[in-house]
Amino acid sequence: MNKNSPIGVFDSGVGGSSIWKEVNKLLPCEHIIYLADSKNAPYGNKSSEEITTLSIKNIEKLLHMGCKIIVIACNTATTNAIATVRENYSIPIIGIEPAIKPAALQTTSKNIGILATKGTLSSALFSKTTQEFTKDIRVIEIIGEGLVTLIEAGNLDGPEMISLLKKHTKPMIDANVDYVVLGCSHYPYIIPQLKKILPENVKIIDSGEAVARQTKTVLQSLNLLREEKTKPSLQFFTNAETATLKFLLSAYSESISVEKMDF
Ligand code: DGL
Repeated sequence: MNKNSPIGVFDSGVGGSSIWKEVNKLLPCEHIIYLADSKNAPYGNKSSEEITTLSIKNIEKLLHMGCKIIVIACNTATTNAIATVRENYSIPIIGIEPAIKPAALQTTSKNIGILATKGTLSSALFSKTTQEFTKDIRVIEIIGEGLVTLIEAGNLDGPEMISLLKKHTKPMIDANVDYVVLGCSHYPYIIPQLKKILPENVKIIDSGEAVARQTKTVLQSLNLLREEKTKPSLQFFTNAETATLKFLLSAYSESISVEKMDF
């Protein structure tokens, strides 16, 4: 493993590519390998044990592919498995957690909403963060039931998506939230649809940029940032169909490769 080794990113499926975009934006010279475990998506309704087993499988694959750092671009995998995987691997591992803290610090209505998977909202790590930062704040927790499956199918703005979003955001709107935290890496792909449904004053935040910054900080501290300025290799692998990844990443089609692979 050296400065020229790739960054390894994984998610339960296509959603973590929203995090990949932030990492690529901040670290444009880095080689990146992305694994979309779409065959096993969604992770959100699985047990902690199952999510940990799947996370280990993905990390093993990225290690075999020579990665120098792992980015878990999945809130569900981070909140359920990061402690265990960090105990088992010496490679640096970056996780993603819902941006509860910035929302809690900035809310003026003292009501914030969080949209995430059942796996994330029921995790001990999520409860701990929420308790720590939201003492005088009401948090409306909503499970984004059905959203990941539609996004995996590339269905971002069909009638089914719009009616699910209306249903999921209603309790937040009724509670007068001024921040909605996107606690799942698939959800940045439905921000335009959410904006149409939420009142204008409501701000939507996610953790993509923070994850990219943390990845850079850790690589810098370990003296592992790539120094060559030549074009990096940007590879995506999915164990299901490639169509949705290609659609979501169409703006990058000249610079990336998207392939099917068993893992
Ligand atoms: N994209 C994932 C997350 O950030 C998981 C979605 C799922 O597979 O349920 O939580």
